[in-house]
Amino acid sequence: MKIKGSTAFVTGANRGLGLAYAKALLAAGAIKVYASARDPSSVTLDGVVPIKLDVTNADDIAAAAAQCSDVDLLINNAGITVRGEALLSDLGVDSLRLLMETNVYGVLAVSRAFAPVLARNGGGVLVNMLSVLSWISLPGTSIYPVTKAAAWVVTNGLRNELSRQGTLVVGVHAGLIETDMIKGIGNATLPRSRPEDIAKAVMKGIEAGDSEVIADDTSRNVKAGFGKTPAAYLATSAQ
Ligand SMILES: NC(=O)c1ccc[n+]([C@@H]2O[C@H](COP(=O)([O-])OP(=O)(O)OC[C@H]3O[C@@H](n4cnc5c(N)ncnc54)[C@H](OP(=O)(O)O)[C@@H]3O)[C@@H](O)[C@H]2O)c1
Repeated sequence: MKIKGSTAFVTGANRGLGLAYAKALLAAGAIKVYASARDPSSVTLDGVVPIKLDVTNADDIAAAAAQCSDVDLLINNAGITVRGEALLSDLGVDSLRLLMETNVYGVLAVSRAFAPVLARNGGGVLVNMLSVLSWISLPGTSIYPVTKAAAWVVTNGLRNELSRQGTLVVGVHAGLIETDMIKGIGNATLPRSRPEDIAKAVMKGIEAGDSEVIADDTSRNVKAGFGKTPAAYLATSAQ
């Protein structure tokens, strides 16, 4: 799909990668970019239309889908993480439930509300921001990957369900990206991408009609590691 002339909607577009998506869409010629955020007054980018949307709030979602009836490109970007909690910690189950609400049920609810909008506007494109952690779990980061793995499978299910209305469903995988989400992560030697580079790779993928964007080397290496012995996802901190 050509981004030039499209009407896009981005969740969590006030900062981080969502802001980079909004800028990249404008640069690629989108005629309108709805920049949604829990607090629309935090959207300060010129040239976008701020929209109030908490992806866990059903009323917000219904209002946004009704108001933004011209959307043909949806980017489910909003996401949250939790640091330093293990699946087996006292707060493991509660933290998982909390993250699932935004990273999985939020993505599904927004997709469900906008699917008819995309259909009415010719099919369009639905992008889900996933992670390299959709495929692997790391010591100290074992809760967030459950949600990104679930979001990956949701993405694959949406691709099947939306194929008949001609919607291209794109899953995006990336390792560390320099945003607030990873602030304070100790190991500065780990490779990090700039949000603008991830956004650029996604714009390229949309234009090419790709169903998957492997946006950095970390994701490329982990995906390639699926075919090795032992497979990348079997690694433990003891190895
Ligand atoms: N940074 C990384 O290393 C990395 C790597 C791979 C994938 N990702 C994914 O990339 C996406 C963007 O993350 P980021 O790095 O830009 O993180 P970030 O800097 O922490 O920004 C997160 C964004 O999501 C929004 N958000 C959180 N909960 C929301 C909700 N319930 N409803 C609506 N918006 C909500 C935040 O809004 P507020 O300002 O209101 O909090 C903010 O705009 C996420 O899906 C994340 O999982 C990040």
